[in-house]
Amino acid sequence: MTTFYRQPVHVARGEGVWLWDRDGRRYLDCYNNVPHVGHCHPRVVEAIASQAATLNTHTRYVHDLILDYGEALTAKFAAELESMVMVCSGSEANDVALRMAQAMTGKTGIIGTDNTYHGNTAAVSQLNASKVPVGGYLPHVRRVAAPDNLMPVGGDRATQAKAFAEGVARAVAELEASGHGVSALIVCPYFANEGFPTLERGFLDPAIEIVRRAGGLVIADEVQPGFGRIGSHWWGHQRLGFAPDIVTLGKPMGNGHPVAAVVTRHEILTRFQEAFKYFNTFGGNPVSAAAAMAVLQVIEDEALVENARDTGAYALGLLEELAARHDVIADVRGAGLFLGAELWRDGKPATALCAALVDEMRDRGVLLHSVGRHSNTVKLRPPCVFGRDNADMLAEVMDAALGAVA
Ligand SMILES: Cc1ncc(COP(=O)(O)O)c(C=O)c1O
Repeated sequence: MTTFYRQPVHVARGEGVWLWDRDGRRYLDCYNNVPHVGHCHPRVVEAIASQAATLNTHTRYVHDLILDYGEALTAKFAAELESMVMVCSGSEANDVALRMAQAMTGKTGIIGTDNTYHGNTAAVSQLNASKVPVGGYLPHVRRVAAPDNLMPVGGDRATQAKAFAEGVARAVAELEASGHGVSALIVCPYFANEGFPTLERGFLDPAIEIVRRAGGLVIADEVQPGFGRIGSHWWGHQRLGFAPDIVTLGKPMGNGHPVAAVVTRHEILTRFQEAFKYFNTFGGNPVSAAAAMAVLQVIEDEALVENARDTGAYALGLLEELAARHDVIADVRGAGLFLGAELWRDGKPATALCAALVDEMRDRGVLLHSVGRHSNTVKLRPPCVFGRDNADMLAEVMDAALGAVA
């Protein structure tokens, strides 16, 4: 595996927003969205342990937990998104979503952005920006310019939605001309891997209209923004104000237990089953369903969406104060507990400086990482139990670390 930092952190234990290395040193975890409700949350641990001691098997049997979870999860979506498939990873979820779109439309063309990541299966990695697939991108995949704050598509933030939609329109025309047709536009509704640019509600509407006119579906990859991290809503597509046909979920769903899901309309799921006869041995096993159910309940009981909203707004304010003191911070942005500070120097993205800052912060006991086309944006995405005192520590350490490396 590829690890973070010059010297990887050799972790031994976690609790809440904290990680300890094997020498007993404590780190404030400002990066991990997988332990969404906090590292080793006792209710999730208990749910996993007691279900493992009762029953765990594959999904060829009916089981209360997967049914209850399906109902609890789909209740968080618009009424028509009433069907769920449980899988084991975000990659699998996106793989299934792409095939659902093919089954529904009878077409194969896929449109994504040119600076994204949707997972590691052969099909899904056709959309990955960081490495060109062996043999090049397949002709049914079209990548359109991703939105950006400081280098917007078309050169102007005010007209970026139109310029993005024009890219989608070109991709649609190419896919129709090549005979593939359009099965789906797949996007993260927070554009997390693209560096989460600040987008107005309705940003995607013109692009979605073009895709729908061509008969394609819209897939919202909620693997990163989902489950309330963005504070204002449970899901990124609700914040941006569009209605996806298919939604994929992963990372935070089981607080570290490998569980993921696809949520869609009944009609789409039926067409998918007819076309592919899908089976997944581990997907939706009782222990995974128990972990996922405990996460949903903890989010509600501990009001973590509200915490993401309030603590996130507080942390964003602290980042803005830092930006006023440090010239290298060219942009501060984000929503809820999904924040970023973009570094530029001498009119250019400060990639090396960002890497140095990430390492310096690690040495000072705060874990975070970088994102964006030039890896020059500090990415903050802590467990959603992050508090104001944690935000204060983050800002203090970042202030000192910037002083040391900038
Ligand atoms: C937006 C997005 N989708 C999908 C995935 C893949 O999820 P997994 O690693 O669980 O397969 C990732 C992983 O980083 C991701 O960022």
